[in-house]
Amino acid sequence: MAEKVKSPKMSRREFTKIVTAFLGTVMGAIMGIPIIGYVIDPALKSQESDAWISLGPLEKYPIGAPTPFSFTLTKVNGWERTTTSYGVFVLRHSENESDIKVLSNRCTHLSCRVSWKEPEQTYDCPCHDARFNIEGEVVYGPPPHPLDTYAYKIEEGVLFINPTPQEA
Ligand code: FES
Repeated sequence: MAEKVKSPKMSRREFTKIVTAFLGTVMGAIMGIPIIGYVIDPALKSQESDAWISLGPLEKYPIGAPTPFSFTLTKVNGWERTTTSYGVFVLRHSENESDIKVLSNRCTHLSCRVSWKEPEQTYDCPCHDARFNIEGEVVYGPPPHPLDTYAYKIEEGVLFINPTPQEA
């Protein structure tokens, strides 16, 4: 007597379950991937602006006298935004546009801010009594090297600096 073999037929209920689960997964992926991307995208990005900073018309900086200028920069790292203020001294040696020095006002010892002392013709650091000459070179005190400098350019009479200081 021949044995009747049961065919592996799927019930309507099982088929509906599988199709529903499949469609749910596909719809979840279609909707979820962009949302996940939107949520985690800022964490994967680190932005640091390297755009040139305008210090205004060159003519407002007198020759021979270090002139202070301050600006702020905002760095974006994921969801974190950090705004930091910076200060520089613009020193024009002559009318020549290539004869300019832009010095950081951060002491190279522990980053205190130096100030220009006109009578002494020096930048003085109040933290550990360091002193720099008008060119930013260490006169005395603990700083390991001269004040940092900024690359600059002049376009149509306006002075711009690159926001990344360079160690002198
Ligand atoms: S921070 Fe300027 S001398 Fe120490």
